[in-house]
Amino acid sequence: MLHILSASQFNQKELYEILNLAHEMEIILNKGGSEMARGKILATLFYEPSTRTRLSFESAMIRLGGKIISETDVNFSSITKGEVLQDTIRIVSGYSDIVAIRSKTVGDAQLASQYSSVPILNGGDGAGEHPTQALLDLYTIFKQFKLGKETLEVSFVGDLKYGRTVHSLVTILRNFEGIKINFIAPTEIAIPEKYVQQGDKIFTDLSDEILKKSDVIYDTRIQKERFEEFSDYERLKEAFVFDPEKVNKMKDRAILMHPLPRVNEILQTVDVLPQAKYFEQAQNGVPTRMALIAKVLDFF
Ligand code: NCD
Repeated sequence: MLHILSASQFNQKELYEILNLAHEMEIILNKGGSEMARGKILATLFYEPSTRTRLSFESAMIRLGGKIISETDVNFSSITKGEVLQDTIRIVSGYSDIVAIRSKTVGDAQLASQYSSVPILNGGDGAGEHPTQALLDLYTIFKQFKLGKETLEVSFVGDLKYGRTVHSLVTILRNFEGIKINFIAPTEIAIPEKYVQQGDKIFTDLSDEILKKSDVIYDTRIQKERFEEFSDYERLKEAFVFDPEKVNKMKDRAILMHPLPRVNEILQTVDVLPQAKYFEQAQNGVPTRMALIAKVLDFF
């Protein structure tokens, strides 16, 4: 049984398979969907706020002809009565064919996989990982560049300490040749050591040089909910703000990505610029998650 728990579980061959399958799913989607998951049920257990991840999982399942059951408010869940995750998962996996889960605790998806009778998809475990987001991010990069065949400079900006999408994407990018990585963050929210490799560059300021030479800038929200001291968040929340002046310094073919939601870090006036890729990126969540659902259900 295939679970999707961490970005580190994939090798290059598997990643190309997922990218090609996502491309096929985009074609299927454009033709109005498919019935390949008819009779199957996806359960979404989301114990932290979500718009894109949950809805694109659900949309993906419905586009494949399947159905969904959903628990979205921890206050209405037996977890609030004191039920442990292990029990919830034992039960919900008996009601469904796949379970997508988001929670605030690192390692919960991994824990869930040990008690589930069906595949678990990690939709974000606290400040840990967000592997399905990283796969749709990779698909976005794959659509723009010749991944593995051209040299790319990818710069991660923002909250690199708590930003789980960064942790997963940088891990996945290690599978490809010719990718240079820059990490740009205030020291308090710098990238954790375990994600840094020899050759990576670490900065505390977003310089014009970075703006000009990056092929991909991956910006992230300062993760307010993860700070122990609110004053630290207040001090860091506008560390970097992308405005048209900054984005216009990027190469014409370069892309500005963001997992969304954005708060203050990218002005809405940037949205019309050709580098702004974040809405298309979010849209890529549907075909990518269709591919992942098809894969864990063993259709391919
Ligand atoms: C991200 C998340 O939940 O980690 N959102 C998403 O899934 N697209 C990023 C964030 O919340 O900042």
